[in-house]
Amino acid sequence: MSKPGSIEETAVNHASPATKDSDSRDLTQPPESPTGSRFVKACLCQPVDRTPVWLLRQAGRYMPEYMTVRKHHTLLEICRTPEIASEVTITAAERLSVDAAIIFADLLLPFTPMGVDFEFLAGEGPVVHSPIRTLEQIQALRTDRVEDLLYVSRAIERVAGHFSSPRPDGDQLGIIGFCGAPFTLASYMIEGGSSRNYIETKRMMYSDCAAWSLLMEKLVTVLVAYAAQQVEAGADVIQVFDSWAGALGIADYRDYCLAPTTELVRRIQALGVPVIYFGVDTASLLPSMRETGADVLGFDWRISLAEGWKTLGYSCAVQGNLDPITLFAPEDVLRSRVNEVLKDADGRPGHIFNLGHGIVPGTPVENVIRTVEWVKEFGVR
Ligand code: CP3
Repeated sequence: MSKPGSIEETAVNHASPATKDSDSRDLTQPPESPTGSRFVKACLCQPVDRTPVWLLRQAGRYMPEYMTVRKHHTLLEICRTPEIASEVTITAAERLSVDAAIIFADLLLPFTPMGVDFEFLAGEGPVVHSPIRTLEQIQALRTDRVEDLLYVSRAIERVAGHFSSPRPDGDQLGIIGFCGAPFTLASYMIEGGSSRNYIETKRMMYSDCAAWSLLMEKLVTVLVAYAAQQVEAGADVIQVFDSWAGALGIADYRDYCLAPTTELVRRIQALGVPVIYFGVDTASLLPSMRETGADVLGFDWRISLAEGWKTLGYSCAVQGNLDPITLFAPEDVLRSRVNEVLKDADGRPGHIFNLGHGIVPGTPVENVIRTVEWVKEFGVR
């Protein structure tokens, strides 16, 4: 069944924060869980039979099945070929037996239709060939070619088709679409790749208000239309990755990023799906991130889940937050850390077990599988 909020409608309906047409979700009310999915229910803080679990970067280089595919294809080929992207997504979800599948794609894919060329260099990560540093370059960014990203939707359709019937335990596997948040995507465009100090990004933020605002606006336009395509294709939830928001102080986050991110979150929610908003090193930003209205906040491991959730007054669902490097620890240490996260959540509705950031290459697969099994055993309401 297709979801409310068509691509055309969303792309055109730019300035409107939602709730206008009859199809859109009334943001004063939580959406009803459309499926018997404990993952979707937990996103909405509804009670579930046991803690749902999935893992950031569950399809990645630690997994031999992924490396076999990767031997024959580049990362971008995998992302842009729906048959392969869907297969990689499905294989990881089934191998780990998790409660949700995140579509195999990358944060930077929307750069191409915006007119920003990039590639992934081995050992270096993403490289943008002509970093965006001026108002003129931002004015030239295209926002009208989001249809070029429909290969992601085709992959989602295949994943949704594969998981359309409930699993043996009666639960429907959740399907997660995703996009980057405006700040994190802008940082890749402006720096030209990964960064330590975000000097050029912050320089533009502080000194060229017109350029920064236009960049935020264009990114939000593209990301809303891209998310709409994913929802239309069958994504149950959209995760917004603000991986590098932790580089910002509270005042900078509030002055330069909160408004565009809030607009993005609200407009995705208006499509009828919950939003998970995730960042790394964000302990001090959590109350501000909460103001975006996201249904779920993702935590990294530097804050205890108990403390972070309490700080938020239990006002939304939370996702996290095992340190992914714990997956290298001996069994007893790993097991006790998994239990601590579950104890921190204390059986409250609205906890989704996850890592505090993505699984890294070299992680022992058997530890990842065990972790999922332990959550299923112990994360019982
Ligand atoms: O299961 C999954 O989560 C896989 C899907 C996925 C990928 N990228 C594939 C990928 C997702 C959700 C992403 C999001 C993404 N991409 C983020 C946000 C998540 C986070 O880590 O905070 C970011 C920052 C990017 C940008 C990006 N892509 C970087 C910085 C790198 C290089 C770092 C690295 O791990 O090598 C990538 C490459 C990338 N994207 C890989 C994968 C599986 C690994 C490279 C490969 O296969 O060659």
